[in-house]
Amino acid sequence: MIDSHQFPDVGNVVPATPSVMDVCCGSRAFWFDKADTRALFIDNRTVETTLCDGRTFTIAPDRIGDFRNLPFPDASFPLVIFDPPHLRQAGKSSWLRVKYGVLSDEWRDDLRRGFAECFRVLQPLGTLVFKWAETQIKLADVLALASHKPLFGNRIRAGTHWVVFQKEGKPS
Ligand SMILES: C[S@@+](CC[C@H](N)C(=O)[O-])C[C@H]1O[C@@H](n2cnc3c(N)ncnc32)[C@H](O)[C@@H]1O
Repeated sequence: MIDSHQFPDVGNVVPATPSVMDVCCGSRAFWFDKADTRALFIDNRTVETTLCDGRTFTIAPDRIGDFRNLPFPDASFPLVIFDPPHLRQAGKSSWLRVKYGVLSDEWRDDLRRGFAECFRVLQPLGTLVFKWAETQIKLADVLALASHKPLFGNRIRAGTHWVVFQKEGKPS
């Protein structure tokens, strides 16, 4: 199990032995408990701002990290969740950009590396949950970048997809 305290600290209290890594935590919108101590929350930026409806929007990862080069050893986590930016275009000062970030021109290579890193830090037989909002880029085009074959997900409905992968191997 990973010891999270060996990685760069950004000031948050983090679990000593997290079993889940959220690679692109953003505002932790899909978490029932945004301070769930079983998880280590990673993002490549911090944000603190007020949305147009007056609500505060915060991105406060436990650790700053880049999904293309995760600062963790191989086989560290049994469960990884990967919810990368899904937009290629968004207004320069749009809330979409603030909330979700935007993919670069090198998005194919970035996401390929992101998948590879998620599988690297997964333990053998570990589970990767991948989330994708199919608004500008087709799910099939993104799944083609993954080094592993997906198990299952909501294949039919366009919109937000949840896709589950399993890493090969024997349990350690
Ligand atoms: C779709 S949003 C995630 C939303 C989040 N899952 C939630 O529930 O609120 C994508 C996130 O990926 C982050 N991100 C973009 N590039 C990244 C990178 N190279 N490494 C880590 N995080 C990245 C963005 O800052 C953004 O917060």
